[in-house]
Amino acid sequence: MVTIAITNRKGGTGKSTVAVNLAAELSVRGKKVLLVDLDTQGHSTIGVGFEYKKGLLTIHSVFSDPEIEVDKVIYQTR
Ligand SMILES: Nc1ncnc2c1ncn2[C@@H]1O[C@H](COP(=O)(O)OP(=O)(O)OP(=O)(O)O)[C@@H](O)[C@H]1O
Ligand SMILES: [Mg+2]
Repeated sequence: MVTIAITNRKGGTGKSTVAVNLAAELSVRGKKVLLVDLDTQGHSTIGVGFEYKKGLLTIHSVFSDPEIEVDKVIYQTR
């Protein structure tokens, strides 16, 4: 398993854009990819075409409720 973090202290510099496109490209190349979106803006989530609906469990649920396991907030996307 390889973990890739896209970081830059400055806002609006393309971090989410790189993360989404890297995830998509790796997946096209046959890799199993888990894209983790910790930003409350949810831009990476939107970027992979996932439609958030009110009430869905998210990574925030994992941090706020110790009963919720991380595998409950992993969703399959195209
Ligand atoms: N290579 C690029 N060329 C031109 N525009 C780009 C490029 N990469 C990203 N952008 C645009 O720049 C804006 C900011 O990109 P993005 O949201 O990926 O940045 P971010 O670093 O994740 O921002 P934030 O700090 O708010 O999370 C978006 O409008 C995006 O479409
Ligand atoms: Mg971002």
